[in-house]
Amino acid sequence: MNDQAQRLREQIQEKTTGRSTRLVAVTSGKGGVGKSNVTLNFALGLIEKGQKVLLFDVDLGLANLDVLMGITPKKNLMHLLEDDKTIFDIIEKGPNGLEFIAGGSGFTQFSQLEEWQLGKVFTELTKLQGYADVILFDTGAGITKESLQFILAADEILLVTTPEPPAITDAYAMMKVVHMKKPDAKIKLVINRATSTQEGEQTAEKLTVVAEKFLGFRASTLGMLPDDQHVSKAVKQQRPFIIAFPYSPAAKGIRQLVSTFCGTDEKRVQFVDQTGLKGFLTRLRKWM
Ligand SMILES: Nc1ncnc2c1ncn2[C@@H]1O[C@H](COP(=O)(O)OP(=O)(O)OP(=O)(O)O)[C@@H](O)[C@H]1O
Ligand SMILES: [Mg+2]
Repeated sequence: MNDQAQRLREQIQEKTTGRSTRLVAVTSGKGGVGKSNVTLNFALGLIEKGQKVLLFDVDLGLANLDVLMGITPKKNLMHLLEDDKTIFDIIEKGPNGLEFIAGGSGFTQFSQLEEWQLGKVFTELTKLQGYADVILFDTGAGITKESLQFILAADEILLVTTPEPPAITDAYAMMKVVHMKKPDAKIKLVINRATSTQEGEQTAEKLTVVAEKFLGFRASTLGMLPDDQHVSKAVKQQRPFIIAFPYSPAAKGIRQLVSTFCGTDEKRVQFVDQTGLKGFLTRLRKWM
């Protein structure tokens, strides 16, 4: 690395120290419910609000955030294992200043890595502390060991479901597993593809009531997104819908989610400051 690049990097790190980073995992019980679209557009919505966001595709097997942005990443998590690469070398640029780390093929399991490789990944991940206001992890669907690691390690979990019964059932199963392993997990529901406000509210209500009754815990609801044909149109154009159709119902829904998410700031200070990325990594190791 040349001197100039080194200096720039040091400046970046200097500028960002002291910022607390909110670590958020986005997940779902059932696949295909809109997790990646929600994550990507939510990230862009946060950027609209002036937040610095890093998006991390941790759907290690089937990474596809890049496809939704029409980008072919040159670097991914796998490249971290090369001697001279740091975490800052593998950050890709997306639209509107979005930064992201691609999952990449060949990197299917953290648990398959050798100890020194894992050590390097963790050391590099620690450097992200203070780098962004929010780090969002798009995890794979369902209760796999890999996605659970990230879900349990994050400060907050956005659990995406649609109003369809199989999606609700699987969301409940996910809540149950998370709650069993981490009773104080902060789960926030996102109801995607609601055909009416009433349907969205009823879906959220069903899940929160069942969780309270059978698990004895309260999940909160972050909000809902309407079923909107602009989402599919944007996917086909490989552009995030909040950019391709900024006034669409889905884009408006995302901005509403972002407002609610940012409005809960006072709650985060307590637990983010206590744990931060170090805590996240400790928890990540614990669940391996
Ligand atoms: N709000 C919405 N309105 C209409 N269609 C939607 C909406 N959200 C998602 N979709 C449709 O669902 C498809 C799948 O979305 P996405 O890829 O985000 O799901 P996913 O949960 O990430 O899937 P996977 O589990 O495979 O990672 C999209 O391509 C789009 O066609
Ligand atoms: Mg996905």
